[in-house]
Amino acid sequence: MAIAELKTTRLLLRDWRPEDEAPYAALNADPEVMRYLLGPIDREKSDAQIGSFREHFEREGFGRWAVEVPGVAPFIGTVGITRMPYSTPFTPAVEVSWRLARAHWRQGLACEAAQAALAFGFEQAGLAEIVSITVPANLRSQAVMQRLGMTRDVAGDFDHPNVPVGHALQRHVLYRMSKQAWRERSPG
Ligand SMILES: CC(C)(COP(=O)(O)OP(=O)(O)OC[C@H]1O[C@@H](n2cnc3c(N)ncnc32)[C@H](O)[C@@H]1OP(=O)(O)O)[C@@H](O)C(=O)NCCC(=O)NCCS
Repeated sequence: MAIAELKTTRLLLRDWRPEDEAPYAALNADPEVMRYLLGPIDREKSDAQIGSFREHFEREGFGRWAVEVPGVAPFIGTVGITRMPYSTPFTPAVEVSWRLARAHWRQGLACEAAQAALAFGFEQAGLAEIVSITVPANLRSQAVMQRLGMTRDVAGDFDHPNVPVGHALQRHVLYRMSKQAWRERSPG
């Protein structure tokens, strides 16, 4: 099945290519990028993630796209929507997430890509709600959620089941956006 391509003012969200593997591994090896994600991962794990993102597209029709800035940078990271693969009080749920190489932070690109992913989720994939999660300390990620118009569910704080018990990154916050809230922000 062909992966849908999404175009925004500055970006192309597209299928993964073999040439993305090296730059994706490089950003996954950056301790600053991985600071709130349990630390850097090696090339093998990075490549395996790309495989799982593509499988997710096959299964669900949506997933985590490779993000390109046409004419500027062939690959800057990944943004997309995925079904949460574990159980929490708010699952089943689809989450929007983002991970960009550091050189491409602070230009509004994560937000621009995420808006396209949310539009696809609500308008094409027929989702009723999309959530987002992070650790309380990841203010940059929470700022993206807030810029997107997502609302923190203060009753939704939870311990991430894939983070070791007692780890400093175990506690997570939950943001939500309903299709109706999306429509109200993006009329027409
Ligand atoms: C989280 C992450 C994607 C946020 O990236 P980001 O670039 O800060 O997010 P945005 O795309 O919303 O950009 C907003 C910034 O761009 C600036 N900006 C510059 N030009 C802009 C433009 N044309 N439009 C909008 N914003 C613009 C904004 O002022 C803001 O800057 P500030 O941080 O100084 O306030 C990035 O930090 C990252 O990849 N982190 C590592 C991975 C990670 O933690 N992922 C989340 C796991 S839960």
